Amino acid sequence: MTLKKKIEDLVDRILPEVIALRRTIHRNPELAGSELSTAALIRNTLIANGLELLPPFLKTDVVGILKGKRDGKNIALRADIDALPMQELNNFPYKSSVDGRMHACGHDGHAAMLIGAAMVLIKLRDELKGSVRFVFQPGEEIAAMGKDLVDAGALKNPEPDAVFAIHAQSGYPAGSIISRPGTIMAAIGFLKLKIIGRGGHGSRPELTVDPILVGSRIVESLQSIVSRNIDPQDPAVISICRFEGGRNANVIPEEVILEGTTRFFDNKVGEQIHRLIEQTIKGVCLASGAIYEFDYKQPYIPTVNDSVYVEAARKVTEKYLGSNMWFEMERALLGGEDFAFYLRDYPGAFCFIGIGEDSPALHNPNFDFNDEAIRNGIIYLVAMTLETMEAN
Ligand code: NI
Repeated sequence: MTLKKKIEDLVDRILPEVIALRRTIHRNPELAGSELSTAALIRNTLIANGLELLPPFLKTDVVGILKGKRDGKNIALRADIDALPMQELNNFPYKSSVDGRMHACGHDGHAAMLIGAAMVLIKLRDELKGSVRFVFQPGEEIAAMGKDLVDAGALKNPEPDAVFAIHAQSGYPAGSIISRPGTIMAAIGFLKLKIIGRGGHGSRPELTVDPILVGSRIVESLQSIVSRNIDPQDPAVISICRFEGGRNANVIPEEVILEGTTRFFDNKVGEQIHRLIEQTIKGVCLASGAIYEFDYKQPYIPTVNDSVYVEAARKVTEKYLGSNMWFEMERALLGGEDFAFYLRDYPGAFCFIGIGEDSPALHNPNFDFNDEAIRNGIIYLVAMTLETMEAN
């Protein structure tokens, strides 16, 4: 029997259980850093299947190691497990049981596929040349806890020769694999600004320092940074997404709050953007007599794939899933991904897995991970692991 057929048979045997697990996780979404019951479910399932687990590095991570009979490479496979603070509008039996929380980014599917890959690889232990580390990571959304997990040593002893992860993507055939060499996802910055003026009566603006006017000028001025200071060949985004201040029609408020996000692919551009944003805020506030408090964080760095492993992913996809199932992206996306911190320290590949051409977009209230993608997702993870161990 070929290895391909052997993997397919093993996956088909566990598929119903993995789909049931996916739906259980979907029904019980938990937010970044609070994935206690999700982690317990993963932990119990892996222990029942005979996987050796490490003590948690943070609080809600689950990291397991499978040692093969022979020495060789170490491969790390990662799934994120957190949900989003949004209301689900789906109405199927396994819809979110918690108001205001849902799995709208497919992390329920990622966790289920990685559990499935662990189940299959445990049965293939005799064929393993090396070891496999399974990393179920909390807090991918907003919190970027992938950085905390890597920095806490979750990938040490032994360190991986290669790291792999897959993430749901709508708009592609269910079970297809999509990626590109080099930069695939952007770096993300978040800014928070409080502008403090002097409040007063709406009829006496000359006695006030109007923070709404100052804020408006800042929002407008920030939009000339990308168009007039950044090289047009370097993609960058600055978006102000929150502008809050004032309570009624005739009181000029004391202060306003602005929040926003930045996106870029190049760290030098990121440093330039950060500096110019603060310079703009400082200049406008000085000219207006307002003072400000400014906070800027950059929790996500660019996600950069190793071209060798993207090529390996293409070969594995074509061999195990079919030649029509591989798609190479022409451009990187301006979304962020904390798998970037795994790829900062180790070579590897971040790929998307298609969940259907007509699937609602990620973070949409009608989103649902497509169970039809699970079979291919598990085969891909297992085959990437075995083929990478075989490669020189
Ligand atoms: Ni996601």
